[in-house]
Amino acid sequence: MDIRFLLNGESVELRDVAPTVTLLDWLRETRGLTGTKEGCNEGDCGACTVMVTDAHGARALNACILFLPQLHGRAIRTVEGIAGPDGALHPVQQAMIDHHGSQCGFCTPGFVVSMAVAHLNGDAGHDDALAGNLCRCTGYAPIVRAAEAAVGAPVPDWMRDDPSVLTDPLEAEPEAGPFAPGDIDELARLYARHPEATLVAGATDVGLWVTKGLRDLDEVIFLNRCADLQEIRRADGRLIFGAGVTMDRVLQTVRESHPAYAEMIRRYGSAQVRAAATIGGNIANGSPIGDNPPALIAMGATLRLRAGDNIREMPLEEFFLDYGRQDRARGEFVLDIALPEAAPDLHVYKLSRRFDQDISAVCGAFAITRDKGRVTGARIAFGGMAGVPKRASAVEAALTGADWSEKGITPALDAFEADFHPLSDMRASAGYRLEAARAMLRRVLAETQGTATSVLEVTP
Ligand SMILES: Cc1cc2nc3c(=O)[nH]c(=O)nc-3n(C[C@H](O)[C@H](O)[C@H](O)COP(=O)(O)OP(=O)(O)OC[C@H]3O[C@@H](n4cnc5c(N)ncnc54)[C@H](O)[C@@H]3O)c2cc1C
Ligand code: FES
Ligand code: FES
Repeated sequence: MDIRFLLNGESVELRDVAPTVTLLDWLRETRGLTGTKEGCNEGDCGACTVMVTDAHGARALNACILFLPQLHGRAIRTVEGIAGPDGALHPVQQAMIDHHGSQCGFCTPGFVVSMAVAHLNGDAGHDDALAGNLCRCTGYAPIVRAAEAAVGAPVPDWMRDDPSVLTDPLEAEPEAGPFAPGDIDELARLYARHPEATLVAGATDVGLWVTKGLRDLDEVIFLNRCADLQEIRRADGRLIFGAGVTMDRVLQTVRESHPAYAEMIRRYGSAQVRAAATIGGNIANGSPIGDNPPALIAMGATLRLRAGDNIREMPLEEFFLDYGRQDRARGEFVLDIALPEAAPDLHVYKLSRRFDQDISAVCGAFAITRDKGRVTGARIAFGGMAGVPKRASAVEAALTGADWSEKGITPALDAFEADFHPLSDMRASAGYRLEAARAMLRRVLAETQGTATSVLEVTP
């Protein structure tokens, strides 16, 4: 496969690229750019953070789980390109020195790139921007102080260069390679001919199959050149995300209209993970602990799948048949997801051991409608409580028509055991999961009655 991209301002053209070479390995081993570090090699530590610019702007991404073909038509800036061409320090680098933000220095290039991206984008939410970068010796306070100190410093000229290259023909007219279709129609034809191929969207799952599972992927189809799969549309009161929309674009879109969903996404992986992971990949992987499905199911989202020229639609909950089994035929792919345009009354709770960058033990989502103190309807869904993301049908039935009060919801609390028989695993025991799920329903009640106590003050 042939690909072209910009690297620290220079055009790079690679021929016959093996599909699963990671950007990190290529940077360090082929290109000799060893400023980008390898820590975990699974998207968790941010030591390998690079800046990637495309039509959607500049973002921090983890190079360890990015395959080279995903970079076609994009501009990459490694830590070597964050300093100016004449060696002038970027304001975040100077601030790291001034505020003693580095000791052993291993994490520092990754932090500097994340900070430079946030600085370029005018993003002063330092805790969120840096949640995907781990430091084991300095401590975060000096690093966050450095990020704060750099706010307001002018963006250096060289950092502004990358977006202008997006008018370059290589971005404007992506070439469709044999395994990199240029649009949805071409993807449908290609996948129908190669139904055994692995689809690669953001590679935040597939990347780990290679770096940690050491799997050889025989045939791979990259989705990143299908710009039409990355569209966000509104039609008939629905908000429609193409399967290739990344979680950070979902977050930007739903921030005002779906505040609880947005707050959950803010805790989805890290900035680097959200910038790569797609909403379609998070559904298609069928994970019982994926964070999108409970919220989307509670909102009544529908899913469209396409195989060849055939498109079918279903309520999202019907897609998940059993553990590891989804209602998806050979050669069929996730096309888009439609949800209501707004969900101001939705409640979503992600329960995990760490606040940031952690997989849910339990994720619960509640859309409960009420009239004059009585429940008129309930859509409730959970992740982490069964082999699939699942609706709490017995709880919903027990709630409907009940008084919206501690006493009124008691039968619904008892009904959890009819809906779920969760597993005990390293994240949580079965008993804990059931108790946590019940507590979430009580929390919805407390929040709607204004009696909730915040356990953690969160700045959106
Ligand atoms: C460090 C880290 C933190 C994470 N944190 C979270 C978290 O907090 N919450 C959470 O839910 N997940 C989390 N994940 C998991 C992962 O980010 C998500 O599941 C992600 O949304 C997958 O999307 P992707 O685009 O990266 O998929 P990929 O890795 O590209 O693909 C995943 C699977 O979906 C298939 N696929 C992709 N697109 C399509 C399509 N359009 N049609 C059919 N099949 C398709 C692929 O073939 C593959 O089987 C985390 C992962 C990492 C590495
Ligand atoms: S090496 Fe840890 S995130 Fe890439
Ligand atoms: S400075 Fe040593 S790990 Fe951060």
